Amino acid sequence: MNETELREAIAAHGRLLFGRGYAVGSAGNISVRLPDGYLMTPTNACLGRLDPARISKLDPGWRHVSGDAPSKEVFMHRAVLETRPEAGAVVHLHSTHATAIACLAAPGEPAPIPPLTPYFVMRIGRVLPVVRYYRPGDAAMAPAIAAAAQGARAMLLANHGPVVSGRTLDEAVYAAEELEEAAKLALLLQGRQPRSLTPAEVEDLLSTFG
Ligand code: 13P
Repeated sequence: MNETELREAIAAHGRLLFGRGYAVGSAGNISVRLPDGYLMTPTNACLGRLDPARISKLDPGWRHVSGDAPSKEVFMHRAVLETRPEAGAVVHLHSTHATAIACLAAPGEPAPIPPLTPYFVMRIGRVLPVVRYYRPGDAAMAPAIAAAAQGARAMLLANHGPVVSGRTLDEAVYAAEELEEAAKLALLLQGRQPRSLTPAEVEDLLSTFG
């Protein structure tokens, strides 16, 4: 996809995520790697009403070059994209169920959601680290985000929400949606004894689809 198509795709995904209630108000942000820098949703923008032409563009050193001012979460997106060279996009949401788990889970915990469904394992992988609470936009979160991103495609920020990467924008969005559904299932099943996928079943999925 060229830059114009990517701008349209960010706006289209933003509209769908907002429409499903996965982002509310002006919460949530999306970034995409370009050959000559990055695209990032503007700060205080509603994901449901993004203007593709006003999406922020940053240079390879993450300096703002055009469009509206970028999301305050630029440090979060930068830490993931610089740690994971294979990642082409990052989605951060305040989606309700993933955020609920992020309020319950202990920082440092590697797997706050059990492997209940194949698509959760296929899209998110084996681990989902929980990063301790930082104020939104706090640059101090970068080392903790980078450390978590080292071995994981996605993470939960305590009391805040999910951060999900993917090789492409589609992949990052689909993984963020799958994470939200898995969090919802985990909460629905809390206090009961659902069957989790076995380690052998998880390995089979990752070796086939990972
Ligand atoms: P921005 O409006 O700066 O993108 O921040 C929204 C958000 O989700 C904070 O975590």
